[in-house]
Amino acid sequence: MISFSKYPFSLIFTYFILCPLISSQLDYRFYDYSCPNLTGLVRSGMLSAIANETRMAASILRLHFHDCLVDGCEASVLLDGTGGEKDAFPNRNSARGFEVIDAIKASVEKACPGIVSCADILALAAREAVYLSGGPCYPLPLGRRDGLSSKESSANEQLPSPFEPLDNITAKFTSKGLKMKDVVVLSGAHTIGFAQCFTFKPRLFDFDGSGKPDPSLDTSFLQKLQGSCPNLANSDSNLAPLDSTFDKFDNTYYKSLVSSSGLLQSDQTLMEDNRTSSIVLYYSKYPYLFAGDFGASMVRMGSVGVLTGQNGQVRKSCRVVN
Ligand code: HEM
Ligand SMILES: *[C@@H]1O[C@H](CO)[C@@H](O)[C@H](O)[C@H]1NC(C)=O
Ligand SMILES: *[C@@H]1O[C@H](CO)[C@@H](O)[C@H](O)[C@H]1NC(C)=O
Ligand SMILES: *[C@@H]1O[C@H](CO)[C@@H](O)[C@H](O)[C@H]1NC(C)=O
Ligand SMILES: *[C@@H]1O[C@H](CO)[C@@H](O)[C@H](O)[C@H]1NC(C)=O
Repeated sequence: MISFSKYPFSLIFTYFILCPLISSQLDYRFYDYSCPNLTGLVRSGMLSAIANETRMAASILRLHFHDCLVDGCEASVLLDGTGGEKDAFPNRNSARGFEVIDAIKASVEKACPGIVSCADILALAAREAVYLSGGPCYPLPLGRRDGLSSKESSANEQLPSPFEPLDNITAKFTSKGLKMKDVVVLSGAHTIGFAQCFTFKPRLFDFDGSGKPDPSLDTSFLQKLQGSCPNLANSDSNLAPLDSTFDKFDNTYYKSLVSSSGLLQSDQTLMEDNRTSSIVLYYSKYPYLFAGDFGASMVRMGSVGVLTGQNGQVRKSCRVVN
């Protein structure tokens, strides 16, 4: 038996009293006692959302990415109000899934009122989205808290554009503590979901002002895209799948890049650039290694700029601060 009398009082005091207070890191068991069925609630919310619309898995995964890359994973992308992140160019008429997060939050509030942050709900919902689409189920540390503000300009500055060169995109990731490899791994999220025509149209008709299509596009893929995204202003919001198996989380995305059939310029560039092409080839051949690396990169992305301990708050509604 351990006798505490051997230890100085101050040490025991530190162990029992201070340690719980200085938890400044995410924790796999954060809600084990305070909201034991959290994962079940989030999973069932995502199951019904995906049953209603398969694409919702992709939309929620992207929402978590847009949360984390802009001032950290603190649910600022969920806040309503003019001049917030929802108004920013990469989100306006593009980010979707807010009602799904509202519904999950409502069911979690009913089971465990005031306990679970919107940032954790979004991170968990994204994890379920990946898993329910056939991807890996990675363990996810929790304990994020919600931020108090949301700025349109932050999202415009910090989110990558599909028209940017790889160096610019990489700079946006490395400024958050992520690496160029994470750009390649996390872009694998484009194995599910859709993009609007305006996000890749210049590649089809006038690449870099040349008046010609992007030479790195496979010709039959190009013709198919020109059919679904004709060179007309009213085609801007037509949808094209990000890879040919748009509702299945697999490594087809990387196989498409190898065969010059990446949809976005920022996708295909991962195969054109010799700093990243070897990783693309590797994931195109080894789906299990992609699945494992994707989970690890998601956990890294999910830890960017998190608020923990006494910082921030646990919002009652994900759309407004308390
Ligand atoms: C590397 C830089 C990235 C760029 C430039 C980029 C850009 C885009 C663009 C332009 C779209 C289409 C949006 C629209 O047409 O409305 C899109 C969709 C999507 N992105 Fe990314 N993305 C990047 C990285 C990521 C990451 C890291 C993730 C998640 C981990 C992600 C997940 C998604 C998903 C799932 C969709 C489909 C959404 C849906 O169907 O609703 N993207 N992305
Ligand atoms: C957890 O929640 C899910 C979804 O509502 C439900 O099906 C399941 O029975 C719950 N489990 C427990 C132990 O309460
Ligand atoms: C189901 O999906 C459609 C879009 O396909 C959407 O308009 C509708 O609001 C969704 N319903 C529910 C209950 O989520
Ligand atoms: C890429 O970044 C450089 C340096 O920050 C900047 O000058 C340039 O405009 C960016 N290019 C694009 C296409 O955004
Ligand atoms: C990529 O190509 C450049 C120029 O062709 C070369 O200098 C460089 O060593 C190559 N890098 C790798 C990682 O292969």
